[in-house]
Amino acid sequence: MNTHTHHHLQSDPRINFFDLQAPGWERNAAKNAYNLSRLDELRARLGLRPSIDVVEVGCGTGLVTGWLVNCVQPGRVLAVDFSPAMLAQAQAKRLAAEFRCLDICHEAPAAGAFDLAFCFQVFPHFRDQTAALRNLARALKPGGRLVVVHLVGRAQLNEFHRGLAEPVHQDRLPAPHEWPALLATAGLELVRCEDRADLFLVEAKCGWVNQKGRMQCDKDQ
Ligand SMILES: C[S@@+](CC[C@H](N)C(=O)[O-])C[C@H]1O[C@@H](n2cnc3c(N)ncnc32)[C@H](O)[C@@H]1O
Repeated sequence: MNTHTHHHLQSDPRINFFDLQAPGWERNAAKNAYNLSRLDELRARLGLRPSIDVVEVGCGTGLVTGWLVNCVQPGRVLAVDFSPAMLAQAQAKRLAAEFRCLDICHEAPAAGAFDLAFCFQVFPHFRDQTAALRNLARALKPGGRLVVVHLVGRAQLNEFHRGLAEPVHQDRLPAPHEWPALLATAGLELVRCEDRADLFLVEAKCGWVNQKGRMQCDKDQ
């Protein structure tokens, strides 16, 4: 018997891992400020503009959620995370966002509701990346966009996770050449993939199934 047998089968050991991380998550104020200023420089390239509706996946303690609210208001921000402890800290910030405890590998936050799905510093942790992408795609409006962003390059990020303990030490960001097929399984089309020393950015566009049952994207119209 392992220690997890009393949990629901769907449960992910990462929930407990991130719950334990939550109290100290914001301790590096300088790094948090640096990340926010870097994201703000990328604002336009990330497609953040007033009046769009955004779902932020893996919002953690809400370190960037208030910034997202500022970028898109009067658009709506739904911030989700599967760690109750992370989410409790985010909610305590009293931001003009909606918060929900949700496992993106298990369910979509909505159907056809968002212009942008924003994944900041979270994608490698999805235990089923294909399922997560399907649920993200489901949440998007036709033509909606997904961005996956990290403020370090892929090699450095994967090396960082390799140095951590279970259950996250094998969590990886897919290589640029893997993204088109990975996205396609979810009906998403790669628009851009950048992998530099100080930035990893994937941007994808949501298509939809046309009357012939084929995946269709904006550019096919
Ligand atoms: C590395 S932290 C980043 C948090 C926040 N984005 C930040 O930059 O401060 C990853 C977050 O994603 C959440 N997470 C991981 N897998 C998830 C899943 N399948 N569904 C929802 N949230 C998830 C974790 O609970 C954690 O809060």
